[in-house]
Amino acid sequence: MKITNICCIGAGYVGGPTMAVIAQKNPNIKVTVVDLNEARIAAWNHDDLEQLPIYEPGLDAVVAEARNRNLFFSTDVDGAIEAAEMVFISVNTPTKTYGKGKGMAADLKYIELCARQIARVATTDKIIVEKSTLPVRTAQAIKSILDNTGNGVKYQILSNPEFLAEGTAVQDLMAPDRVLIGGEQTEEGLKAIQALVDVYSTWVPDENILTTNLWSSELSKLTANAFLAQRVSSINALSELCEVTGADVNEVANAIGKDSRIGPKFLKASVGFGGSCFQKDILNLVYISKSYGLNEVADYWEQVIIMNDYQKHRFASKIIQTLYNTISGKKIAFLGWAFKKDTNDTRESAAIYVADQLIDEQATIAVYDPKVTAQQMESDLNYLGTRAEEENERFLMSIKDPYEACKDAHAIAVLTEWDEFKTYDWQKIYDNMLKPAFVFDGRGILDHQKLETIGFQVYVIGK
Ligand code: NAI
Repeated sequence: MKITNICCIGAGYVGGPTMAVIAQKNPNIKVTVVDLNEARIAAWNHDDLEQLPIYEPGLDAVVAEARNRNLFFSTDVDGAIEAAEMVFISVNTPTKTYGKGKGMAADLKYIELCARQIARVATTDKIIVEKSTLPVRTAQAIKSILDNTGNGVKYQILSNPEFLAEGTAVQDLMAPDRVLIGGEQTEEGLKAIQALVDVYSTWVPDENILTTNLWSSELSKLTANAFLAQRVSSINALSELCEVTGADVNEVANAIGKDSRIGPKFLKASVGFGGSCFQKDILNLVYISKSYGLNEVADYWEQVIIMNDYQKHRFASKIIQTLYNTISGKKIAFLGWAFKKDTNDTRESAAIYVADQLIDEQATIAVYDPKVTAQQMESDLNYLGTRAEEENERFLMSIKDPYEACKDAHAIAVLTEWDEFKTYDWQKIYDNMLKPAFVFDGRGILDHQKLETIGFQVYVIGK
C-alpha cells in the first residue's frame, strides 16, 4: 500500500515539526496537520516564519520549503481525516487532574475524542498511527472505539512514538537514533507497518527503523523517558553528596561517564528536569505498575520524581538560606524560564517551582528569557494555584533586557542553559547589582572562576 495522503491531528510540539519533516522528505505525500486551536493553526500559516507557534532551530527552513507545496495546516479536522489514508494522532496526553488516577494516570480524553471523530467521519479504510505517548495497551481501546462506533470501515492501529527532544527536534527528526513502529502481527497489520516504514525510509536508513508488536512499542516510549529521567535524578542525588563531601559532581560525572557501559550523556547535575514529558510519563509508568499490583516496581520509578522535586526545592532553599534567610522585598533575577535551552516551551520548567517558593518568601522575581513571553510566565505561575493572580503579578515580572533584569538585584539564578548567558558582560552586571552579589548557577554553565574574580559569591550545584 502506497500512502499519498496523511492527516495529523494535533499541531503541537510533536505534530508540527514531525509532519513538517515527513512532508519535506516525501514531496509526493500530501500532509495536512489539523488542530482545534485556531490561533495555533493561524500561526503555523503565518507569512512571517518568526511567528510560528513553536520555536525550534531549523524548523522555519523546513516549513518554508514544504508549506503550501505538500504541507498544509488547517482547522478542518473532518475534511483532513476523510481524505487521508493514514491518520496520526498527536494530541496532548497530560497527567489527569481529576477522578481515578488523579495526579498519576495519563488523561486520555483527547485521544478518545480523536478516535470517536475518526470513527464518525471515515468512509474509507485507514491506518491510525499513535504518535502521542500513551499507556501500554491504549491501542486496544482505540481499536474497540473504532470498530464499534464506525461506519464499517477497516482500521489498522500502529504505535509510532516520537523520540525527538525539544530544542533539537529538527536535527533529531532528520537523523533519528531509531524510528519505532509497532503493529499487529497479522497479515494486515504487517502491511500497515510496511506502509509507515516506506514513509520513513525515504530518509531514515533501514537499520534505524525498528518494528515490533504494539505493546512493546507503546511501552518502549515510557521506558525510554523513565531511563533518561532516572539518569538526571541519579546524578542530582549525587550532587548533594558532592557538596557535603568536597567532591565535584562534574569530575565524578566525567569519571563515570568514561565507562562505556555508562556513557557520558545526561549526566549533568542541575536544578532538575522539566518539560511536558518526563514527569508525566514516569507518573504514568508508576500508575500502570500499581494497577497491575506491582508496588515495588512503582515505588522504584516514583523515586525519580521525588528526587527531582527535592532538587528544585533544595535549590530554592539554598538561595533563601544564602541570602541570610530573608528575601522578603529583595529582587532576585532569573536568567531563563524555559525548561531547557532552544525552546519556548515552559511546561514543568524548574523555574516555575523555584519562583513559587521564593515568592512564598515575598521575593520579587525579575525574569529574562529570550523566547518566553511575559504572559506565559504569569500563566505558568497562576496554574500552580498557590496564591491570588494579582499577587503573582505583583511579585513576578518579565524583563526584556537581561542587564535590566539583573540591575539592583541581590542575586541571580540561572534556571535555563541558554548559550547567550555565557557571553554577557558579567562585570557590568556585577557593577549594577547590590552587594554582596550572588549567582546561583542552576545549570552549571557559567565561568565560575571568572565570576569570583569579578567579586560574585557563586553557588554551583554539586560543588
Ligand atoms: P501539544 O500540547 O503541544 O500539542 C497537542 C495539540 O493537540 C494541541 O495544539 C491541541 O489543541 C491539539 N488537540 C487536542 N485535542 C484535539 C482534537 N480532538 N482535535 C484536534 N486537535 C486537538 O503537545 P505535544 O508536546 O505536541 O505532545 C503531543 C504528544 O506527543 C503527547 O502525548 C506527548 O507526550 C508526546 N511527545 C511529546 C514530546 C515533546 O517533546 N513535547 C516528545 C515526544 C512525545
